Amino acid sequence: MSDEVVTEGEDLADPIVDAPGYDETESLVGLWGHPLHAMSVAFPVALTFCTFGADALYWWSGELFWARAAIWAAGTAFLFGLAAGATGTAELLLVPGIRIRAPAWTHMVIAVLLLSLLGANWGYRLQGYEAAVLPYGILLSGFSVLVVMVTGWHGGKLVFDYRLGTSKGN
Ligand code: HEM
Repeated sequence: MSDEVVTEGEDLADPIVDAPGYDETESLVGLWGHPLHAMSVAFPVALTFCTFGADALYWWSGELFWARAAIWAAGTAFLFGLAAGATGTAELLLVPGIRIRAPAWTHMVIAVLLLSLLGANWGYRLQGYEAAVLPYGILLSGFSVLVVMVTGWHGGKLVFDYRLGTSKGN
């Protein structure tokens, strides 16, 4: 009985494996083979944390400086996030082996949620950057930190587990 189960299991195959271009996963959007997406994601990740840090320091100290630092960090996190999103989207659409894998699309969905949060956080502050910090600014920043961690972790999974956007070497 148990032998049958094993045999059946061995016969199962993921149909995606047979799709044309399944093994074509090398990055096409890069400089001399170095993927632009990997280079550009560091900025929105770091700036998202900076926004939360500046908000927390404003809450703690009441210094106007930190509210100004927070609006700049929020704005640049969003703009660099858009740039990272553009390089990631190009990679997703252009590379057949990335396009066909569901986890790549999952990463895009999480990333779009992140970009929406970053845009909302910045736009909200444009109406008055000091009043915006407490409570909604810092709440948006805190939520963005959680979502950027998930986005970055999941992006890393695409590279380290599925080897997407990597070189096969020479
Ligand atoms: C919005 C659309 C996005 C798409 C379609 C996308 C797609 C991808 C793809 C296909 C990869 C695999 C590596 C590659 O092919 O270059 C990747 C990796 C990654 N992504 Fe995204 N991405 C997007 C946005 C973002 C954003 C906004 C962030 C973070 C702020 C992010 C963080 C990461 C990280 C950290 C990696 C791993 C990079 C590495 O370790 O080399 N992605 N992404």
